[in-house]
Amino acid sequence: MARQIKIFDTTLRDGEQAPGCSMNLQDKLEVAESLARLGVDIIEAGFAIASPGDFQSVQAIARSIKGVTVASLSRALEKDIDAAWNAIRDAESPRIHTFLATSPLHMEYKLKKTPDQVYEQAVKMVAYARNLCGDVEFSLEDASRSDPAFMYRVIEGVINAGASTVNIPDTVGYAVPEEFSALIRGIKNNVPNIDKAVISVHCHNDLGLGVANSLAAAMAGADQIECTVNGLGERAGNAALEEIVMNLYTRKDYYNMTTRVDSTQIWQASKKVSKATGVRSQPNKAVVGENAFAHESGIHQHGVLANRATYEIMTPESIGLPHNKMVLGKHSGRHAFEERLVYLGHRVSEERLASLFEEFKVLADKKKTVSDRDIDALVTGSSGGI
Ligand code: KIV
Ligand code: ZN
Repeated sequence: MARQIKIFDTTLRDGEQAPGCSMNLQDKLEVAESLARLGVDIIEAGFAIASPGDFQSVQAIARSIKGVTVASLSRALEKDIDAAWNAIRDAESPRIHTFLATSPLHMEYKLKKTPDQVYEQAVKMVAYARNLCGDVEFSLEDASRSDPAFMYRVIEGVINAGASTVNIPDTVGYAVPEEFSALIRGIKNNVPNIDKAVISVHCHNDLGLGVANSLAAAMAGADQIECTVNGLGERAGNAALEEIVMNLYTRKDYYNMTTRVDSTQIWQASKKVSKATGVRSQPNKAVVGENAFAHESGIHQHGVLANRATYEIMTPESIGLPHNKMVLGKHSGRHAFEERLVYLGHRVSEERLASLFEEFKVLADKKKTVSDRDIDALVTGSSGGI
């Protein structure tokens, strides 16, 4: 049977940390509603201590969004954990997500602490959070650049202190898939109490490997993937939710894993996040880019018109788009041109079709794409239509 992967969405926290992507309370509530409709398992609603506005929006989401776990991030500090708990305590299913860095670089230069001090703080703060909330997640920030033996020790300690999810972030997008899956296998094989917790991964995209690393980790046994809609996030962003879900959906034959996400809600969620942040996805973005289901070249259009599977490995309907898009441009063939004429209600003779197609090619050479209005003008501006 297919293994179910939990989807932890952090669009409203890590996604919002992307420069220029901050959202107001109303935007955040609407995005949270979209995420609930999508069927994610956990919504990380924000970082409650970051600002009064953040606290307010985490609290509003915790109070109004049902059927999903609502988490707030907090550093491994009592005052952060208190703020997180106060913001989420009214949620149907609250989670405190606390974190501390474990890499030599972060411990020495950012935290100015020894590994033993970090271990103690992590364990103490997880126990503190667990006294407040029954669901505690602990993240080992910069895990992919940490000493594995030290991580095993921290993970064992925080699980004993009450963490039910242990998150392994590739904070700076440094890992490569084989290495990252080996890290997850190492944790499974070397942490004696690992079966008492869910292993989660959280991959950034600095080298464009966020999704590949997340999927490799899932293959190695991780049961939760943290991600964002449209891959929004710090620097080059986080692993994109829509890519993870559609990989598991489209290549179920390979992964044999599922999620609770309703893929037909992906398009609406993507548009909602673009609108709330003012950031549009690049046109060639996998799954949700404007061109992800568009075909311009004649060979591709001909293939798709004969059988969509020739050039579409997933259907637009499967992500909630009503149809694919045949873009008419200089690469388009007669087949697609004829289809568009019929679609626009122009019935023309074979001879007329041939001359219109020539006129279309001349026009297409001058424009990036040819619109329906251009085609209407081509037909009505001539005398041969019947
Ligand atoms: O990238 C990261 O390490 C994080 C943690 C706080 C989970 O966002
Ligand atoms: Zn992150």
